[in-house]
Amino acid sequence: MKGLLLAGGHGTRLRPLTFSGNKHMIPIANQPMLFYGLQHLRAAGVREAAVILGPIREGIEEQVGDGSRFGLRVTYVPQAEPKGLAHAVLCARDFLGDEPFLMYLGDNMLEHGAKPFADRFGVGDARGVVGVVPVKEPSQYGVAELDAHDTIVSVEEKPKSPRSNLAVVGVYLFDPAIHDVIAQLKPSQRGELEITDAIRLLQQETGQVRVIRLDGWWKDTGRPEDLLEANERVLASRSRSEFQVRGQIDPHASVSGLIELGEGSTIGPGTAVRGPVALGRDVHLEDGAFLGPYTSVGDHSVIRKAEVDRSILMEGVQIDARIRIVDSIIGRGAVLNARTHPPSGESFIIGDACRIIL
Ligand code: TTP
Repeated sequence: MKGLLLAGGHGTRLRPLTFSGNKHMIPIANQPMLFYGLQHLRAAGVREAAVILGPIREGIEEQVGDGSRFGLRVTYVPQAEPKGLAHAVLCARDFLGDEPFLMYLGDNMLEHGAKPFADRFGVGDARGVVGVVPVKEPSQYGVAELDAHDTIVSVEEKPKSPRSNLAVVGVYLFDPAIHDVIAQLKPSQRGELEITDAIRLLQQETGQVRVIRLDGWWKDTGRPEDLLEANERVLASRSRSEFQVRGQIDPHASVSGLIELGEGSTIGPGTAVRGPVALGRDVHLEDGAFLGPYTSVGDHSVIRKAEVDRSILMEGVQIDARIRIVDSIIGRGAVLNARTHPPSGESFIIGDACRIIL
């Protein structure tokens, strides 16, 4: 079984974060989102995987390399334009050959990973395996309608009038029959080759698309608020042993809950931290800084005076101001300082399409 990890697309809903980099390299609990997908593929039994690269691909090949750090052999397949999930499969046709493959959307986070799909495929009667989860707003997702035996009756992409509340999650297992099906697809109204159309056709032709109802959480991280929720979920579901303290905690700091503290990092006197939080390497909390639960701070960041709660701070962020920051995502190298000279008032240098909520 091969692996296909999709890391193309434009990530328009995550702008401005995706102006300067690929969405799949955004850190969740201080690890690029894409790494979770690679780890899940490996844990499901994949040894050889292709990563689909779109127009914005900075950092992916440099960080993932040949995949050996994940126990995988990784190759890269370009997709010049994001013409749909089924189009990505078409691009990887040569790589996939005649083997079944586990397809994983790089922006999906699943508590229990991809193994349940491989296990269901292993039963031996499936030409495709899809997973469903009940959701509150099904019209945002691919939606599956099932009969009393959990057989697919219909699958629709982002329907205006959903026939069920079951969203199809972004992990799929297909046998090579999917390629003939994809070859028959026409672009949808939004101009994409839809994987939901391929699933529907595969079910029509073979009657062997099996459905698993997933337990555990699932997050499609399309929007900024999804990133914050994914960060919270990952930190909340990590085991105690995954939080390691390699840096220094001053005896006059107030620290409780689970804390990950990377090498060279310091939690200074008079600061406070309430876990679960993840702080990378060479991070410094000083001068009364407070970090609240479900916060991640990337390497080489410094926080002074501020309170930060349920937020993602990427690498090299500097904050030095008496400010309370909640539910925020702060990009690499961003600086937030207090004004030290008149005139008073807030001063901003904000890139395109940023969001400031005061
Ligand atoms: P989407 O969330 O549908 O698209 P996107 O990532 O471009 O985001 P937006 O809608 O905000 O512009 O993509 C789902 C996943 O599949 C995501 O990990 C990107 C990947 N993808 C590809 O690799 N190729 C494609 O052609 C498309 C559409 C998505």
